[in-house]
Amino acid sequence: MSASIEEIMKTSPVVPVMVIENIDDAVPLAKALVDGGLRVLEITLRTAPALEAIKQIKESVPDAIVGAGTIINTETLQASIEAGAEFIVTPGSTAAIIDAAQAAGVPILPGVNTPSEAMVLLEKGITEMKFFPAEAAGGIPMLKSIAGPLPQIQFCPTGGVSPTNAKDYLSLKNVACVGGSWMAPAELVNAGDWVEITRRAREASALA
Ligand code: 3PG
Repeated sequence: MSASIEEIMKTSPVVPVMVIENIDDAVPLAKALVDGGLRVLEITLRTAPALEAIKQIKESVPDAIVGAGTIINTETLQASIEAGAEFIVTPGSTAAIIDAAQAAGVPILPGVNTPSEAMVLLEKGITEMKFFPAEAAGGIPMLKSIAGPLPQIQFCPTGGVSPTNAKDYLSLKNVACVGGSWMAPAELVNAGDWVEITRRAREASALA
């Protein structure tokens, strides 16, 4: 039985958002992040090798909990599940995706950034959500405001989260973890600088 989305969000304070352009980078990148203490990985389905990357990381990096991100339709949802994704992340929420994920029994972290969107998900029994795009959608003041009427929601803010503000987000009572790309930006991945990626991951995992 795979972990619930609540358990996954409590595993690690920071979820690296990974964009894999070259399949040969997938396993070394995942190992570099896990070596730094970040076990929960989001592979975005924005590049051709993303599904193959999920498969290879699942096979070769057993300590990783591998999710699929940027899921915007039910086709990529199903393909991600078939590739072995252990959780699903979406930038926004549609009924079709939520219904398909719930029917499949795969943990999902659906994106919202308004109380109305959050309330639609609450009606479906979902209390764990991604807050996206975090900084652009009101950031910390917005999350504090939502905590008043909707205290039952736990968020993973993503989008504009950085080493500068991650700790402040994590100090909020309605934030379980944050997502971000700063541990594995394209320039470090393209350079194969796994040492620096592990250093950044270690720094991020210490934010807990
Ligand atoms: C994304 O979708 O790329 C994530 O939200 C990451 O955002 P970031 O690059 O601002 O961390």
